[in-house]
Amino acid sequence: MNILVTGGAGFIGSNFIDLTRQERGDIDITVLDAGNYAADIEGFATRFPEVELIRADLADAEVTDRAVCESDLVVHFAAESHNDNSLHSPWPFVQSNIIGTYNVIEACRRHDVRLHHISSDEVYGDLEIDDPARFTESTAYNPSSPYSATKAGSDMLVRAWVRSFGLRATISNCSNNYGPYQHVEKFIPRQITNVLTGARCKLYGTGLNVRDWIHVDEHNAAVWTIIDKGEIGRTYLIGADGEKNNISVVRTILELMGREPDDFDHVTDRPGHDLRYAVDATALREELGWAPRFADFRTGLADTIEWYRDNRSWWEPQKTAVEATYAAREEVIS
Ligand code: DAU
Repeated sequence: MNILVTGGAGFIGSNFIDLTRQERGDIDITVLDAGNYAADIEGFATRFPEVELIRADLADAEVTDRAVCESDLVVHFAAESHNDNSLHSPWPFVQSNIIGTYNVIEACRRHDVRLHHISSDEVYGDLEIDDPARFTESTAYNPSSPYSATKAGSDMLVRAWVRSFGLRATISNCSNNYGPYQHVEKFIPRQITNVLTGARCKLYGTGLNVRDWIHVDEHNAAVWTIIDKGEIGRTYLIGADGEKNNISVVRTILELMGREPDDFDHVTDRPGHDLRYAVDATALREELGWAPRFADFRTGLADTIEWYRDNRSWWEPQKTAVEATYAAREEVIS
């Protein structure tokens, strides 16, 4: 089997390749990746010596078509993914997430290639903090940010291509991922690397916003379950019952790293900041038999801290620029 992994040099895509190599050695993998700031192009050949990397933007329809044409399956991770960036510069999100996905599905349609489209629980908007409800596959789309609106748009394109053209596709919408190789702009690696560089952790607003955390390996194992057993045309939610507010995540990081529990600042809130995400993954569990099989959150977080401690050369070159960008956008409020 030949699979094409778009965005395979990024956080979730590269961990997907790791898991695939460990558990499915007979699969040939090709990666199509634009190599933007969040991709690790330099380290790719060392980490994946036998994987072919095509460095191209999905907006390039011809290259995308050629890569898709030679594949039996496309797993489409490539996306601009950081909400804060989308609030300051939305266009790359439209280009990558909408135009890029359009080119992928058109190529899959032309060559009748099976597609799995990776998406986000953010397409559903947010929930009240004290609402017992969680997102399900039938929750109405209600995205808040330019990022989540473009992911919602990409999902709609895939759904329309399934219905109108018989595209053989499944979609998954996952909750917040954490684990090794995540860019330091994201919440958990930012706080870990702040501690490692002697800075204070930074919480947007009250810190009471809730995210539903899942280890990246858990996510990727669920993606394989959907590829293996999912019904064409269906959407599956992926989550591992990991709801936590941001302040409690920061306090756990501080505790695991031997720092004082209040060693954080409240800083300017994110405009339109979604309050709470929570995923009900019943369909995935009951219909497809998926269950989390890796570490619980605290153990996964401790492993992730160890990874950032041991891999300073991987993240240090990005850290100064990321913090300079944040410093220009945020002020300490308490
Ligand atoms: O829910 C899935 C989504 O999770 C993915 O689709 C996105 O690609 C991914 O970036 C993530 O979105 P979030 O906006 O939830 O992730 P982020 O890491 O940016 O922030 C997590 C929470 O932490 C959010 O409530 C904002 C807050 N935050 C973030 C940063 C960077 C802070 O309080 N301080 C920070 O420094």
